[in-house]
Amino acid sequence: MIQRKLINLYIAGTALAFLWIFINFGLWCDDSRDSLELEQKKVQILQQKTESQKSQIEVLKRHKDELSAELKKLERRLDTLQGEDNSGVPRIYIITPTHNRLEQKADLTRLSYTLRLVPNIHWIVVEDADHKSDLVKNVLANSKLSCSHLFASTPPNVKLKETDPNWLKPRGVLQRNEALRWIRLNAKNSGVVYLADDDNTYDIRLFEEMRYTQKVSVWPVGLVGYLRYESPKVRNKKVVGWHTYWKPQRKFAMDMAGFAVNLELIRSHPKAAFRMSAGRGNQESDLLTQLGLEMSDLEPRADDCTKVLVWHTRTEKSSLKNEEKMLKLYNYNSDPNIEV
Ligand code: UGA
Ligand code: MN
Repeated sequence: MIQRKLINLYIAGTALAFLWIFINFGLWCDDSRDSLELEQKKVQILQQKTESQKSQIEVLKRHKDELSAELKKLERRLDTLQGEDNSGVPRIYIITPTHNRLEQKADLTRLSYTLRLVPNIHWIVVEDADHKSDLVKNVLANSKLSCSHLFASTPPNVKLKETDPNWLKPRGVLQRNEALRWIRLNAKNSGVVYLADDDNTYDIRLFEEMRYTQKVSVWPVGLVGYLRYESPKVRNKKVVGWHTYWKPQRKFAMDMAGFAVNLELIRSHPKAAFRMSAGRGNQESDLLTQLGLEMSDLEPRADDCTKVLVWHTRTEKSSLKNEEKMLKLYNYNSDPNIEV
């Protein structure tokens, strides 16, 4: 009897245990189903987010394309505005001969940013080379200035060599003539012509001093001729001589940076040009003489030639002597593909 009771109790206990397992098993299944659903929800939400971000990226891309197109349009407009004489003031044609050397890009970049600050100019850059270089082309494009890119190469027999002292042969002669040819063909309305070498330093007020030149306007040039400055000597608003140590007897003893010429005068003397034969330090005087000028024609500017607004600075020649040494010591040196 007792045995039977015990068996019944055992059966009942086992049944209860199964029941308990059964009930909880359901719960366990529910739990894992819930977490599966939760994970699926999360994935769904992430997918939705990705989709909406994708479409946002598309919208932004379209917006960027629209803005780039708008920017291009505005840049073109700016180019034409700079190319137009819309300021009502005479245009200054700035002639810059330039030759390839280590410092060329640095010098031209600096000059371009100076010129950016001057209204109504046209920059004529003439390379001493038998073709236009990408380096100069890019500097001009980046400058956003109204400019013309020309070239004219100096023949080898008159070309200055790396090792020559730079007074030995005249520089920039054929290049400046190429620019004068361009000006005679293309320049419109009234204007002024200024010869701005690529390695000088210019105060932007200089350009306003020269803008209303009748024939030839003149001013001092700093740091030239081994003096603090060279200058026309002025008495009673007229040029009467030259403050220069070197060859003061020249008819016009001035540096190229020290004068500007009225455009009409260049037009009315179609043959006037720089000449290889002019003689050392005589380029400036030779041209002004061909333009039929006398000392009395000169118009002193910069407060009767008492202010220095341009400096004949010249850029120090860079040495690359460590390139070779670096290669020997470390087995590498500057990447030739990086433009300097
Ligand atoms: C001085 C004067 O300032 C120049 O205006 C003048 O042309 C020159 O002397 C000269 O008598 O020939 P300097 O500083 O000694 O100038 O000369 P650079 O600056 O070396 O050359 C003048 C211009 O010609 C520069 O813009 C330069 O880039 C260019 N150049 C120079 C060439 O186009 N080709 C060359 O082989 C050398
Ligand atoms: Mn120079």
